[in-house]
Amino acid sequence: MPDDGLGRGEACSSVSPSEVLILYYNNSMTDLIRLNHVAVLVEDLDQALSFWQDQLGLTLDHVETVSSMEVKIAFLPLGESEIELVQPTTEDSGLAKFLKKRGPGLHHICIEVEDISAKIADLQEKGVRLIDEKPITMDDGRKLAFLHPKSAGGVLVELYELPGERP
Ligand code: CO
Repeated sequence: MPDDGLGRGEACSSVSPSEVLILYYNNSMTDLIRLNHVAVLVEDLDQALSFWQDQLGLTLDHVETVSSMEVKIAFLPLGESEIELVQPTTEDSGLAKFLKKRGPGLHHICIEVEDISAKIADLQEKGVRLIDEKPITMDDGRKLAFLHPKSAGGVLVELYELPGERP
């Protein structure tokens, strides 16, 4: 691979075929599937949509009120992922307080995995701090867990395992 000016050619040429196999094997062992969504905390959905939908050009799929979490979420698919705009609907939820303290902005990223329990065990073994040591199962069968931002360079990372077989 020729040098593309980003240092990638160099990196690739220094990896032997057997190392490529090892890299491939290690990667498949992690069972990471895709970036499922990026969640953005907003004060007002309509106002946020005027940027994300009207100005940037994403398509709004639907808005869902999740009363158990005291939020309204707008889902804007993009490729295999989506942007979720999250607006607290009460004043005293954890998210509402976070919004008041830190202001609107990026809240978390969500990575979909094949087997969330296996991934959690693997991360714990590597010393990664977790907010949820056991996955939480939602009404739709989806399982989720949050990793602690202290272990992820200040980024709140959510893991998902979706029910059923992947297409
Ligand atoms: Co999320």
